[in-house]
Amino acid sequence: MSPQAPTLFPTSLISPTIQAQLPEGYKLRPLEITDYSKGFYDCLAGLTVVGKVSEQSFQQTFEQMRRCGDVYHIVVIEELAERRIVATGTLIVEQKFLRGCAKAGHIEDIVVHDSQRGKKFGIRLIDQLKHIGTMVGCYKLLLTCSESNEAFYGKSGFVRKDLHMAVYLNNDSTPAAAATATPVVLPITATPTSTTSIASSSSTTALGAATVNSNSITDTTPTTTAMPVKARTVSIEVLSASMESIMVK
Ligand SMILES: CC(C)(COP(=O)(O)OP(=O)(O)OC[C@H]1O[C@@H](n2cnc3c(N)ncnc32)[C@H](O)[C@@H]1OP(=O)(O)O)[C@@H](O)C(=O)NCCC(=O)NCCS
Repeated sequence: MSPQAPTLFPTSLISPTIQAQLPEGYKLRPLEITDYSKGFYDCLAGLTVVGKVSEQSFQQTFEQMRRCGDVYHIVVIEELAERRIVATGTLIVEQKFLRGCAKAGHIEDIVVHDSQRGKKFGIRLIDQLKHIGTMVGCYKLLLTCSESNEAFYGKSGFVRKDLHMAVYLNNDSTPAAAATATPVVLPITATPTSTTSIASSSSTTALGAATVNSNSITDTTPTTTAMPVKARTVSIEVLSASMESIMVK
C-alpha cells in the first residue's frame, strides 16, 4: 500500500456524514500534494482562467499554504475509479482581533467539473466547508458570487449582505487586470428596492449547525467601471449559531 500523500489540512475535519451522502465511488477529502496529476487544474478551469502552473509551482504553493496552519482548507471530491478531481472548494480562515479575537471564514473557488454537475456535489462542498467553519470556530462565513449563483448558495442558508467592492492592482495577472495600466476601483451602489425584500430574515441551514441572520440586503450593480465586469456579484454570509451572541453587526 502506498503511503498517504501529504494533505493540506487534517482529514479529521472531513465530515463522515457528508461523505456518506456522496454516490458510491466518490471521496470527499482535503487537497493532497499529488492532486496536480489528478486533474485539479482541469476542474478549476471550469471556474475561471487558471494560467500556466507547473507541478513544481503547485507543490511549492501547496507547502506554503500548509505552513500557514489552520488557514487554508481546500476540499476536493475525487472520482476514485478515474483517479480524478471532479469538484473543489476553499475555506480560508481569517483570525481577527475583533469580537474577542474571533475567526471569520471566506469561501472561495467553488467549482464542480462540468461533466459532473447536478449530482449535489456543489451542495456537499458547501456543507463540508460549513462543517469545517463550525469545527474551527468561525462565527460567520462570507462569499462573493454572481447573481446567477445566488439561488444555489441560498439553498445552503446564505443570504445577501452588505456590499462587494474590488480594486484590481497592476500585479494581478488576470487578463482583465493586465489590460489596465493603473489601479481601478469598482464602486458599487445599493438599490433601495431590493433592500426591503429579505431584510431581517432568519433560517436554519441544511447542517442544522448554523443560523442565518440577514440585517440588510443590497444590490451590487457596478455604476462606473473602467474595465469589463463579467457578471453582477453579490456579497453573502452565513452566521454560526455558536457565535451569534457576539455578532451585533
Ligand atoms: C454552481 C455549481 C458549483 C453548482 O454545482 P452542482 O454540483 O451542479 O450543484 P448541485 O447539484 O449541488 O445543486 C444543488 C441544488 O442547487 C441548484 N442549483 C445549482 N446551480 C444553481 C444555480 N446556478 N442557480 C440556482 N440553483 C442552482 C440545483 O438545481 C439543486 O437544486 P435542488 O436541491 O432543488 O435539486 C456548478 O454549477 C459550477 O461549478 N458552476 C461553475 C463555477 C461556478 O460558477 N462556481 C461558483 C463560483 S461563486
